[in-house]
Amino acid sequence: MEQFSFSYKKSMVVELPQAIQQLIQASEDVARHAYAPYSNFKVGAAALLADGSTRSCANHENASYPAGTCAERGLLAHINPTEAQEQINAIAVSYISDAKTQTPLSPCGICRQTILEQQLAQGQPIAIYMCSTDGHVIYVDDATHLLPFYFSSKNLDL
Ligand code: THU
Repeated sequence: MEQFSFSYKKSMVVELPQAIQQLIQASEDVARHAYAPYSNFKVGAAALLADGSTRSCANHENASYPAGTCAERGLLAHINPTEAQEQINAIAVSYISDAKTQTPLSPCGICRQTILEQQLAQGQPIAIYMCSTDGHVIYVDDATHLLPFYFSSKNLDL
């Protein structure tokens, strides 16, 4: 019998490795620059690349609502998954709110599918750190844990 078990960890930001704390900080910093005049919901995403560098992006909305882009997809749009140095080890996502809450920012379904495409193309798992506004983090070591049964034409027996 084949089985897939979903697993995640919960931690405080301050308990995580220094590099991940900096990544989370980068996602919070970029969220402040989000262009979100329609939802007033500012999201930031930051990627830790294989070469140790960090890229970040915020959500970017549009008066034509569907033209708006989530922070995660904006981030991935300018990373080349076929370049070894651009492989992503981890992504952190944060949001801005006056309310201090333990609830993390959980990437939407389209963004999960997009992160998985990157993971499949690079052949290495991407850890995802989902941050609350009060220092709590929920994380998974592999993007498949956020989207079991994701779509990939490569999974089909064609
Ligand atoms: N948003 C993101 O940037 N990432 C997500 O994972 C969920 C939602 C943005 C889209 C829109 O600009 C705003 O948050 C409200 O939905």
